Amino acid sequence: MTGSASGKLILCGEHAVVYGHPAIAMPISQRTTVTLDRVDGPSHFAGPADERATKVLRLLASETGWRATVDSDIPIGRGMGSSAALCVAIVRAMGVSGQEAQIAAAMVGEREFHGNPSGLDVQVSVREAMIRFQRPHKLAILAAAPRWTVVVLDSGFPGNTKKLVAGVAARRPGIDPVLDDIGALVHEAERVLDDAAKLGPMLTENHRLLTRIGVSTPQLDGLVELALTHDAAGAKLSGAGGGGVVLAIIDDPKPLLTAAHQRGITAFAFGDHA
Ligand code: MEV
Repeated sequence: MTGSASGKLILCGEHAVVYGHPAIAMPISQRTTVTLDRVDGPSHFAGPADERATKVLRLLASETGWRATVDSDIPIGRGMGSSAALCVAIVRAMGVSGQEAQIAAAMVGEREFHGNPSGLDVQVSVREAMIRFQRPHKLAILAAAPRWTVVVLDSGFPGNTKKLVAGVAARRPGIDPVLDDIGALVHEAERVLDDAAKLGPMLTENHRLLTRIGVSTPQLDGLVELALTHDAAGAKLSGAGGGGVVLAIIDDPKPLLTAAHQRGITAFAFGDHA
């Protein structure tokens, strides 16, 4: 039995989405595929897996009887939705059908991974479309086909989503006005989704707001700066922060990709001109 699901990138609105603000996210071509085979004894992964992942497998499949083989090109802990994709791939391999049922089942695993997930990652992974999502159930599939290209710059360090989300929670209510600003910015961004020149500065502003709630790092700030000095219309950390990736939207990705590769930074592009 095999199931597969895509990773995601958050365009704008991460963290604020946990508190009922909207966020926009899109699927990426990187995927996780899980194959489940019958075995005797406790369910386990065929390869190395940490305790939490094994617990998730047992929650989503069953305590006993399954060996899960994972094939994934989504980097782990980079804000690219690896845990949600794993959860969705497992429930699909288990034969759960229908988007709502898959989301409900996969969320059991996401809660185990992240404590208080908004559901955004699982929503994108299941819908495989660019969406605006607002907790608990407000969803819009965004038909826009953006004409810009996304460059992803990898900090090389994982971010711990559970800790970062808990850190933001601990800074409330002081940071609530900043979360409100992020929510307002997402509404505006949706109106100019096709237009890199208008959207870009909003994404950079979103990064600045994420810095104010304490989830950026000097390294992520440096990657944003690198993007902005190499023709990006806008750039921001994407995902929980603390590590992970920066995304930049850009017309011509080549100068930025070259600059990143010269500095030994893992970078790739997808979209119109990738
Ligand atoms: C993590 O990919 C996105 C966060 O907003 C957490 C969540 O939405 O559950 C940081």
